[in-house]
Amino acid sequence: MVVARSIALKAVNTASLWGLNRSRFGGLPKVQTVRALSTIMSPPSKAVVYEHHGPPDSVTRMIELPPVEVQENQVCVKMLAAPINPSDINRIEGVYPVRPQVPAVGGYEGVGEVYSVGSAVKGLSPGDLVIPSPPSSGTWQTYVVKDHDIWHKISKDSPIEYAATVTVNPLTAIRMLEDFTTLSAGDSIVQNGATSIVGQCVIQLARYRGIHSINIIRDRCCT
Ligand SMILES: NC(=O)c1ccc[n+]([C@@H]2O[C@H](COP(=O)([O-])OP(=O)(O)OC[C@H]3O[C@@H](n4cnc5c(N)ncnc54)[C@H](OP(=O)(O)O)[C@@H]3O)[C@@H](O)[C@H]2O)c1
Repeated sequence: MVVARSIALKAVNTASLWGLNRSRFGGLPKVQTVRALSTIMSPPSKAVVYEHHGPPDSVTRMIELPPVEVQENQVCVKMLAAPINPSDINRIEGVYPVRPQVPAVGGYEGVGEVYSVGSAVKGLSPGDLVIPSPPSSGTWQTYVVKDHDIWHKISKDSPIEYAATVTVNPLTAIRMLEDFTTLSAGDSIVQNGATSIVGQCVIQLARYRGIHSINIIRDRCCT
């Protein structure tokens, strides 16, 4: 995953950090072995986690989470790509208003391939390409298990880098263009911060709709 290469991380054993029972990795009691035959388990998942808020390069680390049961309404997705959005950094720092409780797995958007589905799940099958929408915390891991209604099937032709980043910035740009006034072809909009990803999405969407955009950027001549 992108993030795994982008943040310097130290692999550690997960069990004590997450309060998880290591016996799940091996030597299961007989009664659990029998139960495992009738339940769907995820593979173990490598995850970028943080126990405390702070600078991402010092509070994040990569660990391996043990398999979890895929409940009847859940889907296990093998993540293919998960970006580092600026808001992901802010969540780790503890300064973003909406953030998961710690300890937490990083990441909020991404794209993956369905690995397995719970017994009651309809409309999704192993191999489907899916994105979480609304975006859902914990995408910086190799296998994510969440309720089926989080996952939305997309075309297998979708470029992975676009699919992984479509749910936050492009949708924010759409809402900026649609939620405050009615814009028609020939209208003009003005925005600052136009080099931002959101700003670039605004430019592209406006152009697609025949709306003129005037884009203000800061002067960075000397840096
Ligand atoms: N509410 C939502 O759901 C939502 C979702 C997504 C984004 N957002 C917000 O939308 C904004 C853009 O997000 P993004 O992810 O697209 O950001 P981004 O790609 O990281 O871009 C940051 C922008 O801020 C500019 N900037 C940074 N420091 C500046 C400074 N000191 N003075 C002037 N300009 C400065 C940058 O200019 P340079 O290129 O010159 O560095 C760039 O245009 C952020 O405020 C973000 O919080 C909100």
